Amino acid sequence: MKQENLESLAQELVACRECPLREAAQAPVGWFGNYDSPIVFVGEGPGGVEDDYGCPLIGPSGQLLDKALWAAKMTRDRILTTNVIKCRPKGNRTPNIAEADFCAQRWLDKELAILQPKVVVALGSVALHYLGNQDMRITRDRGKWFKTKHGFDCIATFHP
Ligand code: URA
Repeated sequence: MKQENLESLAQELVACRECPLREAAQAPVGWFGNYDSPIVFVGEGPGGVEDDYGCPLIGPSGQLLDKALWAAKMTRDRILTTNVIKCRPKGNRTPNIAEADFCAQRWLDKELAILQPKVVVALGSVALHYLGNQDMRITRDRGKWFKTKHGFDCIATFHP
């Protein structure tokens, strides 16, 4: 059921033209990994490599994430990675709060509702601000457990 629901969500995502970020991106980049993973890693948004290949966290940041996973004896095939925003902002700038909210309410919220992970890991401040709240600070609040607005247990760490 998860698989069917995510596949149908992915089809809707590919057709999304709801905000101006889509114009500069090659295509929206969705999620990747094991749908039964108890852990979902949420990054900021696709960079150049992700925009080229249509897969989240595979560029330099994703490679650093892989190293951190290996250090914890974990591999990418056992987790699921996704992003707050799905389209690469022009010039690779950081998405603003309105853009993050607009996109994540349409996609990330639905992904998490289908995936029902045990733990969400917020990678960096954009993910922390969306999953937690705007008053949280990555430098101060990383490593502390909190509940996301969806009710999932979440912990933040620096963006790789
Ligand atoms: N690539 C992604 O997919 N997400 C990030 O947050 C950074 C690079």
